[in-house]
Amino acid sequence: MSRLVVISNRMPLGDNPSGGLVVALRDTMEEQGGLWVGIAQGDEADQSGAPQSPVPRLQDHPGLSFDRKCLTVPPELYDDYYLGYSNSVLWPLCHGRTDLIDLQQRYRKAYIEVNRRLAKAVALYLKPDDRIWVHDYHLFPLADALREEGVLNPIGFFLHIPFPSAANVGALTHVGELAKWLAAYDLVGLQTNRDVASCLEVFRTLPGAQMLMDGSIRYRDRMVDLKSFPIGIEAKAFGQMAARTCGQSTLADDDSKLVIGADRLDYSKGLPQRFLAFDHLLETRDEWRGRINYLQIASPTREDVQAYREIREELEQLSGAINGRFSDIGYTPLQYLHRTVDRNRLAGLYRNAKVGLVIPLADGMNLVAKEYVAAQDPADPGVLVLSGFAGAAEQLGEHALIANPYDSHQMAECIHKALSMPLTERQERHAALLENVLSEDVAWWANSFLKALRDKAMDEDFLQLLAQLREGQSPLKPVEAS
Ligand code: G6P
Repeated sequence: MSRLVVISNRMPLGDNPSGGLVVALRDTMEEQGGLWVGIAQGDEADQSGAPQSPVPRLQDHPGLSFDRKCLTVPPELYDDYYLGYSNSVLWPLCHGRTDLIDLQQRYRKAYIEVNRRLAKAVALYLKPDDRIWVHDYHLFPLADALREEGVLNPIGFFLHIPFPSAANVGALTHVGELAKWLAAYDLVGLQTNRDVASCLEVFRTLPGAQMLMDGSIRYRDRMVDLKSFPIGIEAKAFGQMAARTCGQSTLADDDSKLVIGADRLDYSKGLPQRFLAFDHLLETRDEWRGRINYLQIASPTREDVQAYREIREELEQLSGAINGRFSDIGYTPLQYLHRTVDRNRLAGLYRNAKVGLVIPLADGMNLVAKEYVAAQDPADPGVLVLSGFAGAAEQLGEHALIANPYDSHQMAECIHKALSMPLTERQERHAALLENVLSEDVAWWANSFLKALRDKAMDEDFLQLLAQLREGQSPLKPVEAS
């Protein structure tokens, strides 16, 4: 079996914060083995012994069941690449917030430079039959840069966040660049069919791009396949963990009903809108006052970006106002935690919560939705309230309660409906959701992507063979005389 080489900006190193990507890929790497390459900020001299060496070296991080190597990037360059182009240009672009885009020449330069350095470094470690799987928006240009280094291996790309609409892509000064970067991959995987449609639209508007009958795209001298592969979780194990830890994760009196949300503190998650909906619920449905507790965990993220500082301030003000209004002696309706919570604890809290709120304004998939479902007790499950703007709605939308994050009145009614839902309806909805979450889990996701990448590579070998035969060349190497 050929080796799997996974490349992403973030990887599990120490106790750094992480989102769905690290969790999902860690599960995949534990199952498949191979090499995981990531990027960290630091002093180059620390790891290579030769600062500014033309080919950056990767630093080894032993200790897990798969290999880890890391490219170290000096702080200023890293900031322009990570806080700058990745999170102040691409992230808002992909989440429909073009108003927050901060286009600066040096951000784009740093982004391309970090990808180029990574390609140079990785190329040295590759074996001819490695399968390369690149992840997320930090690394759009990586395959193009690897091809420059002469890498011929099959390279797949998976975007964990939404693909931007063609109209929004126009906000990038170099529109054709994104298409050129994508076309250097053999397979581009997106979370949903909606993302595939957006990506096709971007190519459709470009001169020189051709849509082929089999759904693939020819752009310049390359052919790339586009498909959706909705990411999953290790659902069975997560459910077991929740059942084990729920005893230690009680929060309030037995009588009260727990409503839970757990997100990174990101403007795409619609947290102020959710707080307003909770305020509206307590205002209009006074039967819930004193009886429900809303726990919102908001883990800190990208705090050096202005938009993230602003959302934090907004939430602090809103939560203070709601508690000021509806608290009583011994009753605080909203607990807002601006910190990360251990996954074991979180799983137990999900299980104890009667309602799970996953109501982002835009989200690639949102694995909290799947974790909440996996964590429930099938005999007495809670209700998932899900935004139609989360990628997860393509798989789970039929059996979750769909809430509109732009309408606090409708969201409040959804929470009320969830809290009042009879047991049989909760069981029926949950059984259907659980079936999906268990069958389309993280292993299913990784295997479907890797199979598609393998098929694509085989097709390409076959086409190459045909081309050689047509040109009268023998595809077989002559046997050397001994
Ligand atoms: C999302 C992105 C990931 C990212 C994660 C956490 O899930 O898709 O690529 O790693 O957020 O964000 P951070 O900036 O802390 O890596």
